[in-house]
Amino acid sequence: MKIAVFVSGRGSNLNAILNSPELKNLVEVIAVVSDKIDCEAFEIAGQFGIKTFTVGIGEKKINQDQITSVLKNLEINFIVLAGYLRLIPNELIEKFENRIINIHPALLPSFGGKGMYGLNVHRAVFNSSAKVSGATVHMVDKTYDTGKIIAQKCVNISDVKNPEEIAERVLKIEHQLLPEVVKAFAENRVKIESDRILIVN
Ligand code: GRF
Repeated sequence: MKIAVFVSGRGSNLNAILNSPELKNLVEVIAVVSDKIDCEAFEIAGQFGIKTFTVGIGEKKINQDQITSVLKNLEINFIVLAGYLRLIPNELIEKFENRIINIHPALLPSFGGKGMYGLNVHRAVFNSSAKVSGATVHMVDKTYDTGKIIAQKCVNISDVKNPEEIAERVLKIEHQLLPEVVKAFAENRVKIESDRILIVN
C-alpha cells in the first residue's frame, strides 16, 4: 500500500508509522503533506528521504486543487491524517472514498469537532472529569471528526493531575493504535458493512 501522511506539526504519529516493524514490508510512505512550510514532521520525512508538499497559496505551495493530481501521479492509494489541522477538500474525499483515515486524541464522538485539537481536547476531557480517555481512528468525511469509527483504544485517567498528563498517556496509545489500523487496511482486514466498520483477524 502506497500512502501519504498529512501532518501539521510534531509528526510523532508519522514517526510511529515509519518505525513500525509490522509495516515494513506492507506499507510505503511516498509523501508527507502539510499546511506548513516547515514543521518537525518534515524533518522526519527528510531523514527517511520522503517527498514533502505544502498545501496553501503562495510560493513553494501547491493549492488544494492540485493535491489530488499530485497524489494520483505518485500512485498513492491511501491517506493518513496524523495531526493535520485543515479540512480535506471534497474532491479528495470523493476520489479516496473510504481510503482516508484520521487519528483523534480522544474517544469520539465526544470531544471532537472544530477547534478540538492538541491540548484543547485534553483540557476539555480533564474539565469534564472523565475517568477514561483514549484514541480514535476514524474515516474522514466532509466535517471534522464525524466519520465512522474504525478503532479505539482507551486509557485510565482517573488519577491525572492536569491535561498534559492525559496528553502523554493518550499519545502513547496513539502510537500503537495508528500502525495497527494502517496494517489492517494494508492486509485488507477492514470490512465496511452497511453501517458499521470492523477489523477482522
Ligand atoms: C495527535 O495527538 C493526533 O491524535 C492529533 O494531533 C496530534 C498529532 O501529533 N490529531 P503528532 O504530530 O503525530 O506528534
